[in-house]
Amino acid sequence: MRGQLSIHDLTASYGSSKVLHGLSLQVNAGQITALLGANGAGKTSTLRAICGMLLRQGCVELDGRRIEHLSTEDIACLGVGHVPDGRGTFGALSVTENLQLGAIRRSDRLSVSQDMDRIFDYFPILRQRSTQQAGTLSGGEQQMLAVGRSLMARPTLLLLDEPSFGLAPLMVRELFKIFRRLNKEQGISILLVEQNAHLALDLADQAYLLETGRIVFSGTPDAIRKNDSIRRAYLGT
Ligand SMILES: Nc1ncnc2c1ncn2[C@@H]1O[C@H](COP(=O)(O)OP(=O)(O)OP(=O)(O)O)[C@@H](O)[C@H]1O
Ligand SMILES: [Mg+2]
Repeated sequence: MRGQLSIHDLTASYGSSKVLHGLSLQVNAGQITALLGANGAGKTSTLRAICGMLLRQGCVELDGRRIEHLSTEDIACLGVGHVPDGRGTFGALSVTENLQLGAIRRSDRLSVSQDMDRIFDYFPILRQRSTQQAGTLSGGEQQMLAVGRSLMARPTLLLLDEPSFGLAPLMVRELFKIFRRLNKEQGISILLVEQNAHLALDLADQAYLLETGRIVFSGTPDAIRKNDSIRRAYLGT
């Protein structure tokens, strides 16, 4: 199984401002790992650092291969799909065109069209909206499109940045069910960034807690739920 990510002693900065301070974490192949933390903890920066979108140092391995020196494009080609916060779909393009853009680096046209069909099976609402401009979709539909577009590149590891943000609870439940199916049926590993800790822990096999650019706790969702101080701080219960 592929999609194993190992990060060791990762530091990252915006200009001279360091935001990650020697972070280490692991996403096991075929598993879902949650990265939790308050606003400004460095969750988005961690995903960006993995994808080579900001200045970083340390070791990042995908399936045993060092990738921290590679460009964002090369990292994507190796199988890392990044669904950024704010989604980033192209509003003036149709749903189908957005999905096609996700496969822009692929030349296997037949399997691209089969993959689009498969994505429409996971997200039937996107099939119904296939000719509609992405900018006119609801927030939940746009999130589905952003995930679908990322899947078109056939990632082995998906990095999801706050996919539940701004969505109604029903839509969030539906989306998270699909994440579970993608993980179980396609074997895609997932690193899930969420502020909604309850939701993330229900889905994840492992979780890490991030505070001001440092991992302060890691373990199974059960271990996190059983730790009184962490439960109070992150789960509010
Ligand atoms: N483009 C940038 N330039 C300079 N500093 C930045 C930039 N983006 C983020 N930061 C800083 O990096 C730190 C971590 O931010 P980051 O966006 O990674 O946090 P986050 O955990 O994703 O927060 P949120 O839950 O609000 O999305 C913050 O102190 C933030 O101000
Ligand atoms: Mg963020």
